[in-house]
Amino acid sequence: MASTLLETLPEIWPEGQRIEAAGDPNIAVTHFVAPPAFHSSLIQTLLMLERNSSFTEPLVQGSCGVKIHHVDRWNCPEAQLVHQRALALFRHGLHTREAHVDASWASIYRKGDYCVPHSHIRAQASIVYMVAEGDAARPDDLAGKLCFTDPRLGYCAQHEPGRLTRMLIPVMQPGSMVMFPGATVHCVNPYMGNRPRITMSWNINVKALPGDPRQTFERGGA
Ligand SMILES: [Fe+2]
Repeated sequence: MASTLLETLPEIWPEGQRIEAAGDPNIAVTHFVAPPAFHSSLIQTLLMLERNSSFTEPLVQGSCGVKIHHVDRWNCPEAQLVHQRALALFRHGLHTREAHVDASWASIYRKGDYCVPHSHIRAQASIVYMVAEGDAARPDDLAGKLCFTDPRLGYCAQHEPGRLTRMLIPVMQPGSMVMFPGATVHCVNPYMGNRPRITMSWNINVKALPGDPRQTFERGGA
């Protein structure tokens, strides 16, 4: 079954795949087109891993739901393609051939889950991929949204440098991949839907870092 899926998977970086600024030059976004079955398979895999895997780490509420670590170790062709796409986005965005993943994980949010403002240590750039938005919210609904809340971003300090007056909320749907400097402060608003909201995340550097990220990794992962 896996080989059949692999044969039908899209290419890592489709021709014409564009990277755009998501309202601020520091925040990049690209939207991959994928058939519904692609994300259904990812969702199935993640919900199974959540129940059965040692990669699963339940967290206290406010710490981004349930985490499932090590994207590269999941036996899931779709996940491996998204993993390669995250590396490709890093290389394109930073104009480098080197890309070393320091940490990678999925986050499964259920009703009431949220993520307090934080940034990512051990990450030149962090990447978030939307697997499932959960229950459809109104377009203007802020629930469950990934928000950048950093006064160093020009978008967030529109009136005066350094004075935070608005959040940057990238438009994300299944297939959307957002990249940002790891130091950028961000959060996820409380999710209030009934179906799980699922994202995948990576911390990536040009050079591999010494040490174990799990020993120093902050609680947080949009
Ligand atoms: Fe995060």
